[in-house]
Amino acid sequence: MSGPSTPGTPDVVICPGGPLLLRGDHLVRDEDGVEHATTRPISAVCRCGKSATKPWCDGNHKAIPEKLRP
Ligand code: FES
Repeated sequence: MSGPSTPGTPDVVICPGGPLLLRGDHLVRDEDGVEHATTRPISAVCRCGKSATKPWCDGNHKAIPEKLRP
């Protein structure tokens, strides 16, 4: 797990048409109320709903037509 955030560096970044990137330690609650802890320095959270590994992004958003992506 990583330490505290770095001043001037965002902890949350939205990738246009893709996932939400989380830097550092976070808990992500899915639609069923289950909490998932981040385990990597940077974790990608699915925003498109097509990932087979939700709540994490598995790259499936790339199969969605560009204008329909989040
Ligand atoms: S945002 Fe990447 S699979 Fe959903």
